[in-house]
Amino acid sequence: MLVEFVIFVVFLLLFWYHNVTKKWRKFHRRGLPYAEPYFPFGSVHNWKLLFSKTGAFSEQWKAYLNTDLAKEKVFGIYGHPDGDECVLINDVDIAKRILIKDFDHFVDRTMFGLKFDQNVEADKIFSQMFMFAKGDDWKSGRSMMSPVFTTGKLKLMFPLLERVSQNMERYLLDCSKKNEEIDAKETFAKFALDAIATSAFGIDLDTFKEPDNVFAKMVKELQRAKGSESGTPFQLLILVLSLNFPIFGKIFTIEQFSVKGTSFLKNALLKTVEMRKNGGKRRNDIIDHVLDLEKNNPDAMKNVSEDQFDKDAEIDVSNLKKSSMNFDEILVSNAFLLFVAALDTTSSTLTFVMHFLLQYPELQEKIRDEITEVVGSSDKITFEHIQEMKYMDKFILETLRRAHPFGNIFERECTKDYQIPGTNYVVRKGEIINFSVLYERMKTENDSFYNPLEFDPENFNPSNNPDTFSALAFGQGPRNCVGKRYAMLTMKLALAHILRNSRVTKTSNTKEELQMYKFLAGADVPFHVNSV
Ligand code: HEM
Repeated sequence: MLVEFVIFVVFLLLFWYHNVTKKWRKFHRRGLPYAEPYFPFGSVHNWKLLFSKTGAFSEQWKAYLNTDLAKEKVFGIYGHPDGDECVLINDVDIAKRILIKDFDHFVDRTMFGLKFDQNVEADKIFSQMFMFAKGDDWKSGRSMMSPVFTTGKLKLMFPLLERVSQNMERYLLDCSKKNEEIDAKETFAKFALDAIATSAFGIDLDTFKEPDNVFAKMVKELQRAKGSESGTPFQLLILVLSLNFPIFGKIFTIEQFSVKGTSFLKNALLKTVEMRKNGGKRRNDIIDHVLDLEKNNPDAMKNVSEDQFDKDAEIDVSNLKKSSMNFDEILVSNAFLLFVAALDTTSSTLTFVMHFLLQYPELQEKIRDEITEVVGSSDKITFEHIQEMKYMDKFILETLRRAHPFGNIFERECTKDYQIPGTNYVVRKGEIINFSVLYERMKTENDSFYNPLEFDPENFNPSNNPDTFSALAFGQGPRNCVGKRYAMLTMKLALAHILRNSRVTKTSNTKEELQMYKFLAGADVPFHVNSV
């Protein structure tokens, strides 16, 4: 019996080995240099993701920088959650062509291993977000949401964000009086949550005062945040494994998105929308702006260009077919989109900013001087003040150059066969391409940044860095980050409130190196606030 059992197990293992490795011949056949794959996870970036000590997502891409492959303009890797293999673009000119000029060959984004089941309500909502949408569905979602994030609309939203920042400032002053150690990620997660709740869900929260409010709890579940039932290290490991090997998800019946959290938040939003439609008070939040669009205001549908980043993002919407989604569906999916796209990115970036403020007190003083100069004796911080704080912009962008919440988000799926300029390789429809190694490499090179190896906000001084393409933290081209302006506004507002009357300092637990979380966006950054 034992012998039969052993033979059966060996047979299963061989079958698994054969199934996994038989796909790993494509790049060899098509003459593209590639990173050797190893059973069962594929090329080295995947092993790094699972076993790296630092936990940073970018570690997986850095793995290729000191190899011969780093000299190639284009190379292949094996082991991608969506298509098993993936083509890495490692040349700035080719990347520019693909992301901007030849964008119509690469309209779609990859799914990062997510598979949506239209019979599960949570999956349906997430699949309708334009971040994951493809082709015309994406175009119509994007062209509808871009006007919501223009300067004019953000100015109207500003008072809502200002209230959230004041709540955070009060909380931090209280901690300062008690000389308490503060956890950066936890604090900025509360701030980002309250900002999104007020901007997208029409709900005024003060999570600093009431950390256990039901809205915050549900969002934690949705995000699998630290401390949530769905965010234990075991659950996260299974989730990461199941993205590559669906069998794990089936064995452990793990949900991609929490059904409980999704239903709660959807109902809360629809109640607010109903009240607003029935004459409820206007707040100038995202709900009001999207309801304005429903009233067929054609100007609100136009894609608005404000700078090069926006100009490169322009899309032609002249022949667009009408979206098949009804208005409530559009509102719900877009409100959830902000949870996916805005919460962790904003709170993690602020956490990383805090790390660098603690490590470089002299640069912190520069920011404080700028705040004093701009705000002067005014008791309020205004929208215009925030726009004037240019050094703070540079500090945040430099932070993102050094630490990005999701180092590997930068991908496209080929939608029309494409001959990569200067090579013999034709990317076939459906193939995945990724720019993350290029992004990591550019960060180390003088061609892209004038002081690449130091933490130096002057790397983002326009006179030092005339080619804005190298600032890839918010992506590039028509599928770039639609929320960049909202993100910069909320983060700058938070920092202005923290630093205008205080300094932040290290505690005995603050580490010199950024302590990134494993599998989650964020880092352990403890700090003190000292009022001045
Ligand atoms: C520091 C904060 C943020 C960072 C670093 C960030 C970064 C990014 C990056 C790298 C992409 C992919 C771009 C590409 O593929 O070219 C992206 C896409 C996106 N971001 Fe952000 N983001 C941030 C905050 C936000 C916020 C606050 C929102 C919403 C208010 C937002 C909404 C989106 C959306 C909707 C997309 C998908 C765009 C599309 O597919 O057309 N992001 N973001």
